Amino acid sequence: MFDHIFRPGKIGNLEIKNRLVKPAQHLGTANYKTGFITEKQLNYYRNWAKGGVGLVIVEMAAIDYVGAAELPGMIMIGSDETIPGLTGLAKVLKENGASAGIQVCHGGGCKLGQPSFGPSKFPYLNIMGMKQDCEEMTEAQIEEVIQNYGQAALRAKKAGFEMVEIHMAHGYLPDAFYSPKYNLRTDQWGGSLEKRMRFPIEVLKSVKKNVGSDFPVSCRISGTEWEEGGITLAESIPFAQALEKAGAEAINVSSAGAFTHYRIIIPIYYPRGTNVFLAEEIKRSGGIKVPVICNGGITVPELAEEILATGKADFVAIGRPLWADPEWPNKAREGRVNEIRPCVRQNISCGGAAVMKSGVFTCSVNPEFQTKYEGTLDKTTSPKNVAVIGAGPGGLQAAWVAATKGHKVTLYEKRDVLGGNLVEDAVPAFRVDKARLLSHFRHEMKRLGVNVRHEEATADTIQKGKYDAVVVATGSKRSKPKIKGIDKPIAIDFVEALQGKMKGNNIVILATDYEIRCVDVAFYANELNKRATLLFTQENVTQLATDMGAAESGMQSQAIMDVLPKTPNISMQLGVEPVEITDRGVVVVRKGKKETIPADTVVYVPEFVSNDEIANALEKKGVKAAKVGDCVEPMRLMCYAIHEGHAAAKKL
Ligand SMILES: Cc1cc2nc3c(=O)[nH]c(=O)nc-3n(C[C@H](O)[C@H](O)[C@H](O)COP(=O)(O)OP(=O)(O)OC[C@H]3O[C@@H](n4cnc5c(N)ncnc54)[C@H](O)[C@@H]3O)c2cc1C
Ligand SMILES: Cc1cc2nc3c(=O)[nH]c(=O)nc-3n(C[C@H](O)[C@H](O)[C@H](O)COP(=O)(O)O)c2cc1C
Ligand code: SF4
Repeated sequence: MFDHIFRPGKIGNLEIKNRLVKPAQHLGTANYKTGFITEKQLNYYRNWAKGGVGLVIVEMAAIDYVGAAELPGMIMIGSDETIPGLTGLAKVLKENGASAGIQVCHGGGCKLGQPSFGPSKFPYLNIMGMKQDCEEMTEAQIEEVIQNYGQAALRAKKAGFEMVEIHMAHGYLPDAFYSPKYNLRTDQWGGSLEKRMRFPIEVLKSVKKNVGSDFPVSCRISGTEWEEGGITLAESIPFAQALEKAGAEAINVSSAGAFTHYRIIIPIYYPRGTNVFLAEEIKRSGGIKVPVICNGGITVPELAEEILATGKADFVAIGRPLWADPEWPNKAREGRVNEIRPCVRQNISCGGAAVMKSGVFTCSVNPEFQTKYEGTLDKTTSPKNVAVIGAGPGGLQAAWVAATKGHKVTLYEKRDVLGGNLVEDAVPAFRVDKARLLSHFRHEMKRLGVNVRHEEATADTIQKGKYDAVVVATGSKRSKPKIKGIDKPIAIDFVEALQGKMKGNNIVILATDYEIRCVDVAFYANELNKRATLLFTQENVTQLATDMGAAESGMQSQAIMDVLPKTPNISMQLGVEPVEITDRGVVVVRKGKKETIPADTVVYVPEFVSNDEIANALEKKGVKAAKVGDCVEPMRLMCYAIHEGHAAAKKL
């Protein structure tokens, strides 16, 4: 079915069973003090290898203690004491069928905390997006770091890894040296293209010298930094050529500089595979002969197959998709595409609000990854008769887990479709990965034989059903906010807007910083060829982006601030306070003065309250029920509903 994906490939002399690569992704689970490999880490990597991916490139490992990005739980490869742990990791990968690679890195100016060194003194954004100064490296420091890369690579080889990747992207040290923005030197390490290239090339030579010419080395570069004055595609082509000439056996093309990390982990506001063209250009225009790996938002096997079949790249990296479902490759190979739990590219749990809250990188759609719910879903020996009320993400996940464990599940949903809020969430065309999640859930209910009843469950129905266990996932209810004129026919809430109820061409949205759905409605209006105006009370776009980022994910809000101004039908007005909705539009106060902004439809953010009536009624009847998702607390992020639904059903 996916012939090109499952054709064997080679990087140098390393034979790889298929064209799928797990790219380096920091997990934060190495030992916090030593950077040694932990049991937990072995488990995740074992799962990925078992899931059928061809090559696993272990997350960035710090080549020394100065350049370590100092992220909690980062892998260390800067001393020989790290070799035993790394040996175990390489073994786990190989024993479970994957080829084993590891990425070596020096954070440079992106490193969190001081001392921080780069090619030049420069005000950086560190890896956590905070402003930080970095000092210019001396000649001696440069030479030492080059040696350290070589030593680190040798340790990887000694540990049994079959390939090393040098992190030369994302504003990290080698990228910074090549970047005309970050490298302001005028000595032999800066200035012309050749001089800026010198440091990364010397690093590659040092690595090759230590590991031997027959040991495969990949270089991960930024096809562009997406930054003014930074590396462009035109400059990354000669860079890739020079690396190939100096002995690189693969070029792994990512993108971004220190200030544009949101372009690495492509949020949903960009199309799937939006960075693939960089790999394609480098391969084609650059005439690169060694394998080129492409990256970013390649969530589904159909796209991976198309990229490989059309020769845009030789290998396809799937990072977050393997967080969402480590079995992605096996399921694709076996033609079980609908069973793949898709990554939704919102970065909420792997880089947004949920990480900020928990301090741990998790995955919104995969509660078994880095959470307290980890472990297999063993078949029950005593099947129960289980009722799940509500088929939003929380109820669907609960039904999925209970049915997977072998329980008999009845799922009540009062709407004639399954999905809860995910139905509207998935409406705009750009939210194609949300739509994929929705269709995955619907497919799984059928595959697992869940008995779906499209009816409004009551406490009586449930009691009469004599269920052994009940999960309540009834979500929340919407009400209107207090603004004059809210009952006018012109005014609808954002859920109604996504249900296709926007009338006319001129849509005005009373937007808030805490609800990114307003922006989604604007993009949706644009898809329908309507004009959308977003009104915000905030005066300042930077503050607005920060506040929006806190609500969901900084990467999402940065992407929005990048994409929105380029979308012709959408405009944004700041510093306006809506005070009344009239038949013709919205009355706002701007700098103390009232004015009317005309509209055909006014879209507002509704207020949400938990829908816990049935849970309370069941309690009164003495029927025990587990509450999950928005019926516990309204309008939280989807990840909480999914994780709670999972936890409740796993206990059964
Ligand atoms: C338009 C929109 C977009 C969103 N986008 C995002 C996003 O991008 N990212 C994110 O993290 N979060 C998002 N959210 C929030 C997220 O969708 C919710 O937090 C999540 O859906 C909560 O899931 P849930 O299963 O608890 O409830 P819901 O999704 O609300 O599902 C509850 C279900 O229960 C059914 N039900 C209620 N009572 C009964 C009954 N008595 N009998 C039978 N059925 C009943 C309802 O019909 C409904 O289908 C969005 C919300 C909306 C409204
Ligand atoms: C949590 C997280 C950690 C990452 N850590 C690294 C890293 O250690 N080295 C690296 O080169 N890229 C890193 N990346 C970028 C990924 O390798 C990959 O390019 C990115 O996730 C986009 O691909 P995807 O859409 O397939 O996930 C990281 C991404 C995430 C989400
Ligand atoms: S948290 Fe979201 S974006 Fe990150 S891997 Fe999971 S589904 Fe994908």
